[in-house]
Amino acid sequence: MKAENVSLARALSKLGYCSRSRSAFYIKHGRVSVNGKSITDPSLMVDIDRDSITIDEVRLARLKTVVIMLHKPTGYVTTSSDELSRKTVYDLVPDDPHLFAVGRLDMDTSGLLLFTNDGNIQDRITSPERKVSKTYLATVSGKVGADKLEKFHKGIDIGTGMIVKADECRVISTGISSTSVELKIHEGKNRQVRKMFEAIGKRVTGLHRSAIGGLELDIPEGTWRKLSDNEMEMIFR
Ligand code: URA
Repeated sequence: MKAENVSLARALSKLGYCSRSRSAFYIKHGRVSVNGKSITDPSLMVDIDRDSITIDEVRLARLKTVVIMLHKPTGYVTTSSDELSRKTVYDLVPDDPHLFAVGRLDMDTSGLLLFTNDGNIQDRITSPERKVSKTYLATVSGKVGADKLEKFHKGIDIGTGMIVKADECRVISTGISSTSVELKIHEGKNRQVRKMFEAIGKRVTGLHRSAIGGLELDIPEGTWRKLSDNEMEMIFR
């Protein structure tokens, strides 16, 4: 078997133990050992299959990869513990300490949110270099002309010189006081879609994620399901 050397922080997420941000916390608090020695440096390189990595003295081994989709309703925050005691997306999925959300949706955004115990999947889906498209349906106040959407294609500054693009965007319908726009993006900057519309002088009044790559949301709001074998294959391809 080929050695897989990664930082200790990454090893914990790859082994499906927790998210990358959480792993640094565990390591810094002295709960992780490598080959019997307590390690507090998250950047230490380890061989994920050959080194013995323990957390709270329990040895970690590769878990069977699980991915689930959640149809997130609005009103839930994407965090595991909220200091304001708001409802979190973890209230809606199975109570498994190894599952973590892949990326995030704002509290006011509904739609497709994936959870997994596999750090590789998180990397594949969230890394901008992989160009996995995320499809959003935005309801925007007022009319949105084609000239404005053209700016999304060319690249638009969403603040402090951060230029982002839409891979595709089109008007779905135009009402008396609002417009529905579908857009696909592959980056995941904080509140990116809302900021893109702000940059053309429009306010997003509703935002829904309907797909990630070829994976489409097909379950009722507030429910979850495991991905099928075919869908898992599609993610790994
Ligand atoms: N862009 C946003 O503005 N919000 C989200 O929740 C996702 C993408």
